[in-house]
Amino acid sequence: YDAGFSVVVPYENVTPEEAKRIVQDAIFSRDPKGIKHTTFFIGGKDMEKAEAVLKIARDSMFPPFEASTIIDPAGAYTTAAAMIAKVEEALTRSKLGNLKDKRCAIFGTGAIGRVAAILLARLGCDVKIVSPNPDRADGEEYVTKLSSVLQSKYGVTVEGVFAPTPAKKVEVIEKSDVIFCVSVAGVRIISKEMLNEIKLAKVIADVNAVPPLGVEGIKLEDDMREIAPGIFCIGALTIGRLKYKLEREILKEARRNGKGTIYNYNYAFQLARKILKGEISPTKLAVTLSYPSKEKKGS
Ligand SMILES: NC(=O)c1ccc[n+]([C@@H]2O[C@H](COP(=O)([O-])OP(=O)(O)OC[C@H]3O[C@@H](n4cnc5c(N)ncnc54)[C@H](OP(=O)(O)O)[C@@H]3O)[C@@H](O)[C@H]2O)c1
Repeated sequence: YDAGFSVVVPYENVTPEEAKRIVQDAIFSRDPKGIKHTTFFIGGKDMEKAEAVLKIARDSMFPPFEASTIIDPAGAYTTAAAMIAKVEEALTRSKLGNLKDKRCAIFGTGAIGRVAAILLARLGCDVKIVSPNPDRADGEEYVTKLSSVLQSKYGVTVEGVFAPTPAKKVEVIEKSDVIFCVSVAGVRIISKEMLNEIKLAKVIADVNAVPPLGVEGIKLEDDMREIAPGIFCIGALTIGRLKYKLEREILKEARRNGKGTIYNYNYAFQLARKILKGEISPTKLAVTLSYPSKEKKGS
């Protein structure tokens, strides 16, 4: 509703089979003009299931019966897009070079970690996706399989690494320039002892806002604060604020666009870059918080 929608109809546990019925029920009950005022939002928790629902939903539409469709399972697409755009901007602002030339390590293999890996690899970065989970018995096998899934489904080359111990994590960090902490909430991934062992300069971004934070000594509002010699951090709220702006702007754009656009992580990343460059003004963003005027009540 914050983005100006008049009616929101939730459906839970939607399977790809049900998606076709829901989409066609919605689009065939309105004429093509009315469909421009309909937006589908695919959420859920599981990225692969959400992508499967998206495929069916889009295959069920055809011109002129095409509605805007947003996909953002667990908010992961907008979070990953905001995190990477923010790091890219921070590196440039701090005159630390271009993100595309960096070696990146992503600690966390959930939806945020996977999308971050895809976006970074497509930028041209050298990317490692790391499972830091000490409770994972099948670690090596799991990361090898994840790496091949990323290659076969998304066409990106990403090395899978299992690093459940401090020594293994330091080894990965030493070989990276930029580190992304995107593991489960409330779990510390990088301790002070580990930071003390790191010799070369690094940038670390953490999305975990639940104490203990992902990096010992980081603060939620950090924006390239040097928390140890040569270690510059970006905190969860700094990323979170951009993510919220992004989410609202996407919802607003989908509501008024009416061209059947798909709003995925690629769109979110390009939009995050524009927001950071000031190409989308705060005034425009503020509009997303207003409710629709009376004459737009048909939306
Ligand atoms: N700042 C923001 O705006 C924002 C927005 C949304 C979410 N978040 C945060 O983003 C983070 C990632 O979310 P997500 O949905 O992508 O993933 P998630 O499902 O919350 O976490 C999955 C990852 O955590 C790892 N993990 C699980 N238990 C662990 C343990 N005991 N020690 C170390 N690692 C462990 C898993 O490892 P395996 O895969 O190897 O099992 C997996 O890599 C969460 O902290 C969430 O709160 C932040």
